[in-house]
Amino acid sequence: MPEPILQVQQLKTYFYLTEGIVPAVEEVRFDLSRGETLGLVGESGSGKSVTALSILRLVPDPPGKIVGGRILFEGKNLLDLSEKEMRKIRGNRISMIFQEPMTSLNPVLTIGEQIAEGIVLHEKVGKKEAMNQSIEMLRKVEIPAPERRIREYPHQLSGGMRQRVMIAMALALRPAILIADEPTTALDVTIQRQILDLIRKLQEEIGMAVLLITHNLGIIAETAQRVVVMKEGRVVETADVFSLFEKPQHPYTQQLLAAVPRLGETKRWTKKRGSRSQSSVGNQQGATP
Ligand SMILES: Nc1ncnc2c1ncn2[C@@H]1O[C@H](COP(=O)(O)OP(=O)(O)O)[C@@H](O)[C@H]1O
Ligand SMILES: [Mg+2]
Repeated sequence: MPEPILQVQQLKTYFYLTEGIVPAVEEVRFDLSRGETLGLVGESGSGKSVTALSILRLVPDPPGKIVGGRILFEGKNLLDLSEKEMRKIRGNRISMIFQEPMTSLNPVLTIGEQIAEGIVLHEKVGKKEAMNQSIEMLRKVEIPAPERRIREYPHQLSGGMRQRVMIAMALALRPAILIADEPTTALDVTIQRQILDLIRKLQEEIGMAVLLITHNLGIIAETAQRVVVMKEGRVVETADVFSLFEKPQHPYTQQLLAAVPRLGETKRWTKKRGSRSQSSVGNQQGATP
């Protein structure tokens, strides 16, 4: 059994509000193995995004604070690192993509400038070389005419294209871990499918692990090997994807699965994973309570 690349242990992240303390993440623990896709599911407000932000130490402080636990990346506790050391890890060894790319893309910089920025920062190459690598990256994420696109601004692209740019930025430095927080929720079903296939393809190429946050159990059934279920800031169940769909242990997981209108089909997809003929992903938008 290889040592996991990421171990989240007893993580606690609280928000200190005037109304009181919100224990957004309470003793969360899970391991992520090299190369695996781990699904993180749970209803809205269950602490999924705060868990992801905690890993990268991007929780807004104030009002948020990581108040307990350890986050071991390659055996080293990220919570012990200085901000300077953390910056070397963010976007480089551990990358993140968000649901709404418009909020993470800079509207006044061209696509090329934004991708190249990270490459210049972390790889110490010149701007021209970084631009060439950016074009290559856009090609990898299957954006047509990358030489032209590189000079465009985010608002000139469609939602799907912007999400591809986000993926290009996130993967330009071949991170060991990609955290994808509801990466396709804002997109229509066809584009969702393309983006997920793209992530999977690049994951194989780069050999990275993916922490995939979604409320869409169809996506989990098709892409994750293991699943962590969260409720009210806590992990209520961790299981491999087959066991989770066949025999959910926790009542909350059973409830989540029962809320999926086409669970029968979900089970069949689970069994037939690997055959990509079904166009099922995305049919269950909003199925969770
Ligand atoms: N910036 C913030 N300030 C105060 N509370 C927050 C903040 N971000 C998240 N929370 C609270 O933390 C809890 C978990 O939120 P979140 O992790 O975003 O849930 P989700 O599972 O939908 O991603 C929620 O109760 C939310 O209100
Ligand atoms: Mg969220």
